[in-house]
Amino acid sequence: MRILVVGSGGREHALCWTIAASPLCEELYCAPGNAGVAQDAVCVPVGAKDLDGLIALARDKRIDYVVVGPEGPLVAGLVDRLAEAGIKAFGPSAAAAALEGSKGFMKDLCAKHGIPTAGYRRFTEAAAAKAYLREQGVPIVVKADGLAAGKGVTVATTLAEAEAAIEAAMEGDAFGAAGSELVIEEFLEGEEASFFALVDGETALPLATAQDHKRVGDGDTGPNTGGMGAYSPAPVLSEARCQEVMERIILPTVRGMKAEGRPYKGVLYAGLMVAPDGAIRLLEYNVRFGDPECQVLMMRLMSDLLPALIATTDGVLSSFDLRWYDEAALVVVMAAKGYPGAYEKGSAIRGLEDAAQNDDVMVFQAGTKAGPEGEILANGGRVLGVTAIAPDIAEAQARAYQAVDRIDWPEGFCRRDIGWRAVGR
Ligand code: AMP
Ligand code: GLY
Repeated sequence: MRILVVGSGGREHALCWTIAASPLCEELYCAPGNAGVAQDAVCVPVGAKDLDGLIALARDKRIDYVVVGPEGPLVAGLVDRLAEAGIKAFGPSAAAAALEGSKGFMKDLCAKHGIPTAGYRRFTEAAAAKAYLREQGVPIVVKADGLAAGKGVTVATTLAEAEAAIEAAMEGDAFGAAGSELVIEEFLEGEEASFFALVDGETALPLATAQDHKRVGDGDTGPNTGGMGAYSPAPVLSEARCQEVMERIILPTVRGMKAEGRPYKGVLYAGLMVAPDGAIRLLEYNVRFGDPECQVLMMRLMSDLLPALIATTDGVLSSFDLRWYDEAALVVVMAAKGYPGAYEKGSAIRGLEDAAQNDDVMVFQAGTKAGPEGEILANGGRVLGVTAIAPDIAEAQARAYQAVDRIDWPEGFCRRDIGWRAVGR
C-alpha cells in the first residue's frame, strides 16, 4: 500500500517509524514531516492545515491510505474531504472530531449518556459566566470551547484569575473563535492518566495507558507545555480500572456518538482523573494520538499497527486483537531553551546516532530540519523525544536519560524527573 501520514511532530515520526516496518507498506510519504521522519518516509512540503494541498498530494502520489496525526485537520474535515475524493483515511470525520473540537459538545454528550465527568455549564456571555463563577466559587476551571493549542484551559484558584480567563477569551479574543464560547467546570482532584482506544464506529479496542508531564519544570512546576515527557503503562490504571473506563466511559461514548449520527472512527484518547477515592472521571477527549504519548505506545506495540488502523476505518475491529510488550516505555522530550516561551531555531544537534545505538532506545524527532550538510538542526519548541523501553519504568527512565546525556545540544534542555510518580510508587 501507498501510505501518507499527515503531520510534523514526534507523534508523526513514531507513526512513520512504525508504519514503515509494516509488510503492508510499500511506499510511505509524510506531509510535511521533519528531518527524523525523512529516515522512514518521503517528506513532502505540504502543511497539515493545507487541506487542498493534501488532497492534491494524495491524488498525485496515488495514496491508498492516509493517517492523520494532529487534531487541526481532523476538526477541519480532512477525513471527510479525502472520503469525497475516494481516499480512505484514519481519523474521525469533522462531525465526530467535535469530541475534541468543542468542549461544550463533549460535555453535553457526557451529560446525555451518563458518562462520568466534572459538573459544568456552557456560556456565550461573559456576564453570565462571571455570575456563575461567583455562585460556584474557587477552585474552578475555565475552558475555551474550541481548539486552542493546549492553552485554552485555566485552572483558577482565585476569582480574579477565573474572571481574567473569561475576559481574555470572550472580551480580549485570546483564542479567536475558539474562545467565543466557554465551559466552566468543577475542579477535580486526583491523579491524571490517559487511556487510548481504537474505535470503528461500533466497537472499541483498548490500546494502552500512559501518563504525561505537561509542566515545563521539574516537580511539575512552571507553565504548561504540549508535554515534556510520558510513560506507558500508567500504574494508576490497573486492569480493573481499565475495564471500568471501557464500560463506563469509552463504550457509552461510542454508542452515544452513533446515536447522535456522528459515528466515531479513529483513536480516542481519554484524559482521565482518578480521584483519591478511586472514582474515575473523564477530563477531556482528544481525537488523535497524544504527543509524546504516541512515542511510548509505538515502542510497546508488538503487532503490526497498519492493519489495525485500516480495520478501524473499515469497521471490522471486533475481530481484531493487538499484542503489546509487557515492558514499560518512557520518553523524555528535549526542547529548545526558552520553550514554551520564545526560543531560537537553527542550533546544531549532535550525538543522535550514539544516543540511539541500542535497540531499546529510539530518538523520535519533532521540530528538526536537515542543514546543508545533512546535519540535524533545531527547528521548533519541542525538538526530540528520547524514548526507551525496559522491564520497568525505573529502568526505562535510566536508559532514556543515559541516551539524553549522549546528545550534544547545548541550546536544548529537558526535565530530569520524567516518570517520578511511577518510579516512586
Ligand atoms: P484539558 O485540555 O481539558 O485536558 O485540560 C488541560 C489540563 O487542565 C488537564 O490535563 C488537567 O491538568 C487540567 N484540568 C482540566 N479540567 C480539569 C478539571 N475539571 N479539574 C482539574 N483539572 C483540570
Ligand atoms: N501530550 C498531550 C497531548 O497530546 O494532548
